[in-house]
Amino acid sequence: MKVSVTTIPLLDLDVDLLLVPLTEDGKEEALSSLADSLGSTVKRAADDFTGKPGNVVLLYPAESRAKRVALLGLGPAESLDAEGLRHASAAGASLALAHKAETSALRVPTSVGVDAELVGQALVEGFMLGAYRFLEYKTIDAPFDGPSRLVLHADQDEKAVRRGSERGRVVSEATTTARDLVNLSPDEKTPTLLAKAVEKLGKKQGFEVLVWDKALIEEEQMGGLLAVNRGSVEPPVFIELTWQPENALNTKPVILVGKGVTFDTGGISLKTAKGLEAMKSDMGGAAAVIGAFEALAKLEVPLYVVGLIPASDNRPGENAYVPGDVLRMHSGKTVEVLNTDAEGRLLLADALSYAKTYRPELVIDLATLTGAQVIALGSDVAALMTNAVSGSEERLAAMEAAGSRSGDRVHRMPMHDVYGKLLESQVADVKNVGGREAGSITAAKFLEHFVDYPWMHLDIAGPSFLLLAKPYRPIGGTGFGVRLLTEFLRAYANPKNRK
Ligand code: BES
Ligand code: MN
Ligand code: ZN
Repeated sequence: MKVSVTTIPLLDLDVDLLLVPLTEDGKEEALSSLADSLGSTVKRAADDFTGKPGNVVLLYPAESRAKRVALLGLGPAESLDAEGLRHASAAGASLALAHKAETSALRVPTSVGVDAELVGQALVEGFMLGAYRFLEYKTIDAPFDGPSRLVLHADQDEKAVRRGSERGRVVSEATTTARDLVNLSPDEKTPTLLAKAVEKLGKKQGFEVLVWDKALIEEEQMGGLLAVNRGSVEPPVFIELTWQPENALNTKPVILVGKGVTFDTGGISLKTAKGLEAMKSDMGGAAAVIGAFEALAKLEVPLYVVGLIPASDNRPGENAYVPGDVLRMHSGKTVEVLNTDAEGRLLLADALSYAKTYRPELVIDLATLTGAQVIALGSDVAALMTNAVSGSEERLAAMEAAGSRSGDRVHRMPMHDVYGKLLESQVADVKNVGGREAGSITAAKFLEHFVDYPWMHLDIAGPSFLLLAKPYRPIGGTGFGVRLLTEFLRAYANPKNRK
C-alpha cells in the first residue's frame, strides 16, 4: 500500500473514501467547520454521529471530490490514545474493503493529546493492518484484494505526521510478513521452506541469514531440537539472523529467539482434533522475530541484534521421542520428557543455551508456548516473565511500556522459586512438564534453567492467532510481537523514542 501525507484542501481530495475521525467533545464545532469545506449536507449527520468509539456515519456530499465521506467516532478527547486511533482507522479500513475503495484519504485529527508522530504512525497501522486479508488460496469469487493507497491529510505538524506514517507503514508491512507466514499452509512452511523464506527476506531487506542443517545441529548437540524432530520426515533447521549496522550502539548483541514449530501435533502425546486446528500457528514466535528483523533493517535501527530460530514440526512418527525419554540438551543438562506436547520449551532451551556463546546483553524469546497462557490472559495480552538477573524491574517496565505504545500488550507473571519446584525430576536434572497448575509459569521456569544472562520470555499463544476477529486483527495470524519488539528496540537504542 502506498502511504503519503498532504496538506491540500480537503475538498480537493480526489479519493474513493475520505475518512474523518472526530472526538466526541468537539463534534458540533468540527461538523460545522467540515461543512465549510465539504458542504452543508455534512450537518445532517449531526443527529446520527455520536462521536463514540466504533460509531461510523457514511455520507455522500455532492460538493466534495471524494466519492464518499465517513465520520469515525474517537470517543472523549481526554481518554484518546494511540490504540483508540488504530481502532478508528481500522473501522475506516473496513469501509474501504466493503466499498472496494482503492484510494482513501484520512484527515489527521488535531489537538487530541497524543504526540503527532505517534498519531501518524497509529493511523497508518490501524488502516493497513485493518485492511489486511490473506487471499493466497482464494481462487473463486476472488475478493477485493484491498486498498492500494492511503493519503493522510495533516493541517498541523505535517513533518512529524510524515515521520510517524512512514514508520507505521514499515512496521505494518513487517507485521504483514509475519501474518502471511503464520497463515501459510503447514506443508508450504516446513523448516527447510521457512529457512528459504527467511534467506530471501534477508537478501531483500539487508540482514544476514545463516541456516544450519541437521548435520550441524547434531554437531552442536542440540538434544532438545533433535528429539522433537525425531518423529518427523522433515529435517530440522536452526536459523541465525544478524542485523549489525556500522553505527550499532552495542558490541554484545541483543538476541531474539522465536519458537519455530511449523506444526504441532503433540507428538506421541497427541493433541485432540480440536486442539490441532490452530497448530500451524506454532511458529508465531519465529514469525515475530522474522518480521522484527524486516522492521529493524528498514528503519535502520542502530543496534546489533541476532535472531535465533529453532525449527521443526512435532509429530508421532515411528522413531518419535516418547514420554520417559531422557534428553541430553545443548547445555549439558538432562531433561526427563513426560509429555511430548511440551516440545516448544525443548527446542527453545537449546537456542537459549546456544545464545550464551554470544555473551548477549539481553535475550528475548517469543513462543506460542502454553494453552495456559490463553486461559490466564486471553488473546489480547501476552504473558511476560524475566529472571532475577540485575535490572529485572527496569527490563519489565520497558517491555510493558513498549506494549502499551505499540498495541501489542503484555502482562507480567510471577517467577517465584515455588513454581520451579514443580519441575523436579526423579531421574534427570529437570522434567519437561509441571502439571496443570500455573502452566505458563512452569514453562518459563523450565526455560530459566538454560539462561545465565538478562532474559525476558513472552508467551504469545493467545495473541498470535485469532479465531474471532478483533479491531485491526482479522481471524488468523496477527503478527503479534513485531510491533512490540520494534518499539522495544527503538526505545532501547534511544530513550527519546519513548513517546
Ligand atoms: N503449541 C502448544 C501451546 C498452544 C496451545 C499454543 C494453544 C496455542 C494455542 C504447546 O506446544 C503445547 O502443546 N503446550 C502444552 C504444554 C503441556 C503439555 C504442559 C499445553 O499448553 O497444553
Ligand atoms: Mn505442544
Ligand atoms: Zn507447541
